[in-house]
Amino acid sequence: MPNAHVKKDNYCQMPIKNDGFLFEFLASSKYDDLVFTKSKEENFFLQVIDKKKIKLIKADKITKPTNVKIVQDAIKSFIDANNFEILHENINSSKNHLKKKSNYQKDIFYFDDYKSDKKIEIEIGFGSGRHILHLAKKFPDKEFIGIEIHKPSIEQLLKQCQLQNIKNIFVVDFDARILLQMLSSNSIDTIYIHFPVPWDKKPHRRVISKEFLNESIRVLKKNGKLELRSDSEKYFEYSRDLFLSLQKCEIVIRKNNNIEISSKYEDRWKKMEKNIYDIILINKEFSKEKEKIVPEKFEKEINFSNIYSNFSNKIIREDDFFVHFENIYKIDKNSGVIKISFGSYDKSEHRYLIIINDQLNYLPNKFAFTKQNILSDKIIKEYLHETSKKGIYG
Ligand SMILES: C[S@@+](CC[C@H](N)C(=O)[O-])C[C@H]1O[C@@H](n2cnc3c(N)ncnc32)[C@H](O)[C@@H]1O
Repeated sequence: MPNAHVKKDNYCQMPIKNDGFLFEFLASSKYDDLVFTKSKEENFFLQVIDKKKIKLIKADKITKPTNVKIVQDAIKSFIDANNFEILHENINSSKNHLKKKSNYQKDIFYFDDYKSDKKIEIEIGFGSGRHILHLAKKFPDKEFIGIEIHKPSIEQLLKQCQLQNIKNIFVVDFDARILLQMLSSNSIDTIYIHFPVPWDKKPHRRVISKEFLNESIRVLKKNGKLELRSDSEKYFEYSRDLFLSLQKCEIVIRKNNNIEISSKYEDRWKKMEKNIYDIILINKEFSKEKEKIVPEKFEKEINFSNIYSNFSNKIIREDDFFVHFENIYKIDKNSGVIKISFGSYDKSEHRYLIIINDQLNYLPNKFAFTKQNILSDKIIKEYLHETSKKGIYG
């Protein structure tokens, strides 16, 4: 990632415009500074870390733009605006390729209540992409959503879609358990989960759980299918018990059944003569529409100055979600930024809360409206409101 070491010096007055960037404000904490940077495409923070006689300038991890070129240009422009003396930099390196977002890649919000006239199939954890590519070519009239969390696999599938001029795959870089919560009821024809990570030592990380299966049934059309394929005996037994406890669906179990296309993993397991298990769930239920949950409007008083005097690194733990107030940054007496993480224990969200004129705004400003995120949002705002009332000495 592009970064630069510059000689320690004072910042220029902000806001300041330079080369198409607006450096709007500086927010400072005990550990680092954030520079709120606006470009034509995106708003994000540059992070500045003070070391003995130098400042390290880079893009902040939570808000950084996907296009590395924007980060490079922003760092250059910020150094130029401040007239900082560069000691070392890699912002001109050709390694920082301009990465344009592929048309095949969609962010998770694209699928909020997504509807299509075509049949939709989802592959969770597509790995090398062999299976989803095969299906997309075989059924050009269907739409395929491939969801993965492993970046190299995502890059590989995007490249293949481009090379093979495939038009019916959407690639999503996110946790599949959240995607399901966003989809409309009765909208999906098939969900494939082939060779999921068994997570024998950390079962809470498994994709398959009671909650996941209930959510799958909700999004599957009547007679829609979920197909689990696994080489792990333990994962098979765990899943079989969960599947068999479900009502209103048919379950088919097969052992060592060959399918049309064999993935890299499957080839490996077959060579090792391992057994391969399929559990297929056929949904027999028409589900009611998803309850629309949105954050409540929050109109209670917020006072940054009191929040700042009473701030401590704090974690609020609830049964299935948490809120962590990680760090606080001051812009001026009445405004600042709070670094937070929140949401479900398996898939947390990381954000900044910008508080200016007693108004709260998240950066990045969107998050998936899952039950855990909505409840976290409520707790965050209530907690900040309570802290606002405490006064300087708590
Ligand atoms: C063992 S690999 C199998 C890949 C592929 N299905 C195959 O058969 O070759 C499991 C894949 O699931 C992905 N994965 C694990 N948890 C996931 C989640 N919660 N959401 C989406 N993908 C996930 C992993 O990154 C990994 O690529």
